[in-house]
Amino acid sequence: MIDKMKGEVMLENKEIIDTIDFNGEAPADETKRQYYYMKKAAEYVEQESKKAGRKLTYFVQNFGCQMNARDAEKLAGILEKIGYEEAFDEMADFVIYNTCTVRENANLKVYGRLGYLSGVKKKNPHMRIGLCGCMMQEPEVVEKLKKSYRHVDLIFGTHNVFKLAELLVTMFQSERMVIDIWKDTDKIVEDLPTERKYQFKSGINIMFGCNNFCSYCIVPYVRGRERSRHPKDIIREIERLVADGVVEVMLLGQNVNSYGKTLEEPMTFAQLLQEIEKIEGLKRIRFMTSHPKDLSDELIKVMANSKKICKHLHLPLQSGSSRVLKEMNRVYDKEKYLELAMKIREAIPDISLTTDIIIGFPGETEEDFQDTLDVVRKVQYENAFTFIYSKRTGTPAAAMENQVPEDVTKDRFDRLLKEVQGIARKKSMIFEDTVQEVLVEEVNEQDAELVTGRMSNNLLVHFKGGKELIGTLQKVHLKECKGFYYIGELV
Ligand code: SAH
Ligand code: SF4
Ligand code: F3S
Repeated sequence: MIDKMKGEVMLENKEIIDTIDFNGEAPADETKRQYYYMKKAAEYVEQESKKAGRKLTYFVQNFGCQMNARDAEKLAGILEKIGYEEAFDEMADFVIYNTCTVRENANLKVYGRLGYLSGVKKKNPHMRIGLCGCMMQEPEVVEKLKKSYRHVDLIFGTHNVFKLAELLVTMFQSERMVIDIWKDTDKIVEDLPTERKYQFKSGINIMFGCNNFCSYCIVPYVRGRERSRHPKDIIREIERLVADGVVEVMLLGQNVNSYGKTLEEPMTFAQLLQEIEKIEGLKRIRFMTSHPKDLSDELIKVMANSKKICKHLHLPLQSGSSRVLKEMNRVYDKEKYLELAMKIREAIPDISLTTDIIIGFPGETEEDFQDTLDVVRKVQYENAFTFIYSKRTGTPAAAMENQVPEDVTKDRFDRLLKEVQGIARKKSMIFEDTVQEVLVEEVNEQDAELVTGRMSNNLLVHFKGGKELIGTLQKVHLKECKGFYYIGELV
């Protein structure tokens, strides 16, 4: 185990590891401190593994957005380093749920799964259960867990994911539930291991947190204040990933358009994109999410001129009613949004515009809803994610009167979905009989003779090919549109 630690970690981050005295006190520098604890945790895992007479396994179940998906890769990276092997279900020795709380149903799912885990744990004396992510940042959730879910061993939040190894050491030394939740942080810890889900593509955090406080949204409360990573750390991470086979990156932030504002030497998102574009070997750049209020002309220009930035922009609308948008604290109105969308379509004609829409925000009237439908029809989204408003305790909207009755919301939701899908289907078809470049992502799950690739605009294409194509860009003739995807042929 220790050899594994030394072998792999030293290869990756030799310059850091070499300076650590593993027999002394834990170092003060956070990155070094965590490598120190990875070694200690590895010793515990090895002892436990000897007792069990087999390798210990881990399973990370992820809920929520891309931000959480990237955190899950960081958790997996640390767990692999300390000697756990990946398992693919909850029969593992360390099960960790990385939770989401953006809507109530995301939250309820976790309690359901935890109930089930209690039975599983009784059968495996080596099993430990960890919980982390956005839900853990809500004090009432932790109270409930302390009271009614005593089989959980470790609870931490969104601000201290990097600390997993140290927390595991505490967990192995303790008989009690270990809880470590930070209210907020300005800390960004670099250079820790990650275990990527895909060899050829990766998410990259460019910023953390959110300062927008849209009135319905819990994210700013559970992810803390906005802070940007230093551009040189982002570039260095991408360069390393490219050297390791990555050709596509997804830059992640709750509001990437305000990137750089918190840096000592401020930098715009468009400037960052131009720096990333220069990285040799990198083929595609994606990003999410863009808040319409901060989307600059500079960004539109950079996207229009770029060879690597994908022709896809996710531009959450939330509502088409200026009155509701004001209540939501979105800082744009219907006209501004439409103007922006049209400007983007004009500057980048082949762009795919997608969005998020919330139905049933408190006080939403039929007239407000008609405004939303109107924007949907005018912008002609290539795709839209539609959500029923979910009341989140602690947000301003939760305290608003006139919450919309469920049946009214449901009816509007169905009407919106029909509209959105009709448009999306029509828009998907326009590429029929053209040749497009796709990045091959995987062997098709239903038919092993086919591979699945993604176009720059995010549409999927299935075509005949083998797994050797995964991670490569290919020209594909799109023969037939099947609703939201294509059947194609290599040219
Ligand atoms: N930062 C991103 C969104 C992150 S949350 C942005 O501002 O665009 C993803 C989506 O979840 C949001 O765009 C919104 O449509 C939806 N959402 C957030 N809070 C919600 C709530 N309380 N009820 C229903 N949907 C919600
Ligand atoms: Fe939530 Fe608004 Fe921040 Fe997006 S921008 S995460 S919707 S508060
Ligand atoms: Fe959910 Fe947290 Fe993302 S609440 S949507 S996992 S930021």
